[in-house]
Amino acid sequence: MKTLLITGAAGRIGTFLRPELKGKYRLRLSDIAPIRDLQPGETFMKADLGNLKDMLRVTKGVDAVVHLGGNSGEADFERILQANIVGFHNTLEAARRNGVKRFLVATSNHAVGFYRCDQKIDHRVYPKPDSRYGVSKVFNEALASLYANRYGMEIFCMRIGNVNSAPIDRRRLAIWISGRDMAQLVTVGVEHPDIRFEIVYGISDNKRAWFDNSNARRLGYRPQDRSEAFAKAILQRSPPPGNAPADIFQGGGHCMAEGGTRSALASTVPAGKTPAKTSKRPARKAPAKKTPARKSSRSATDKRRA
Ligand SMILES: NC(=O)c1ccc[n+]([C@@H]2O[C@H](COP(=O)([O-])OP(=O)(O)OC[C@H]3O[C@@H](n4cnc5c(N)ncnc54)[C@H](O)[C@@H]3O)[C@@H](O)[C@H]2O)c1
Repeated sequence: MKTLLITGAAGRIGTFLRPELKGKYRLRLSDIAPIRDLQPGETFMKADLGNLKDMLRVTKGVDAVVHLGGNSGEADFERILQANIVGFHNTLEAARRNGVKRFLVATSNHAVGFYRCDQKIDHRVYPKPDSRYGVSKVFNEALASLYANRYGMEIFCMRIGNVNSAPIDRRRLAIWISGRDMAQLVTVGVEHPDIRFEIVYGISDNKRAWFDNSNARRLGYRPQDRSEAFAKAILQRSPPPGNAPADIFQGGGHCMAEGGTRSALASTVPAGKTPAKTSKRPARKAPAKKTPARKSSRSATDKRRA
């Protein structure tokens, strides 16, 4: 059985992936934050992405790295620099030095967030980041490309949409991905025999997708879930798109300058309510990260998340 290192495993996507990957792989989980509910087949190693020695320790002896650690939304540049640029470099470099070839990158739709919502884009488009966070993801893709071509590493970049048990608004109808589809995509990235440098989109089988995900399909990805099952309820409670950048561009609220108001498009579920769950299989409970009910124009979730 292969051993996977998952960095940032205490976070949201790690929490979705762990039960899905259980039994398929030995999971070495690392994070700067503790993980206390370890399951059989899982081990935990505390590590700071900012410390190369830590990353050399945790990447030693694994078959593949699933790199989820870092800052998962817009932030000031210093924070992005440390977590997503220095931290990413340390992790990739540590994997290379330890001879770990297969490396999965959690990049983001925000690497291409300034494409318009009325456009369909594939994995070959030139990056158009919508934030400092998006720029860090473009950096990750570029550094990973260097390591593929110069050092022969096997790189699988997943431009993830939004991982959740259900899409929460109109925008997420385009970019949602369920936990089990995310796990399937990771499995493709780990198992495909012929990866040098690939970019795929991390979305479920969404009718309203902005992404042509034929590259993922070519590599064997067959998503099981569809956002359309949630569309009626979401569209009923969502106002039509307006003229704000957040309505026009794929990156949503990330496309607004600081202080800008967020799109009506991204109207979230009314406080205290959970979206209806109608996927083919009972939706997994979202890892506990609460969105405080706020009256302000941007929710905490929107600042931090896809
Ligand atoms: N959640 C999504 O829908 C989504 C969408 C697009 C891209 N992504 C990307 O996927 C990855 C995982 O996302 P997530 O939602 O699980 O994020 P998250 O914020 O929930 O988890 C990130 C984890 O990284 C850890 N971390 C941060 N700085 C660290 C450091 N210096 N050393 C060690 N660990 C550190 C945090 O403790 C946290 O547990 C991120 O890179 C994010 O940018 C996520």
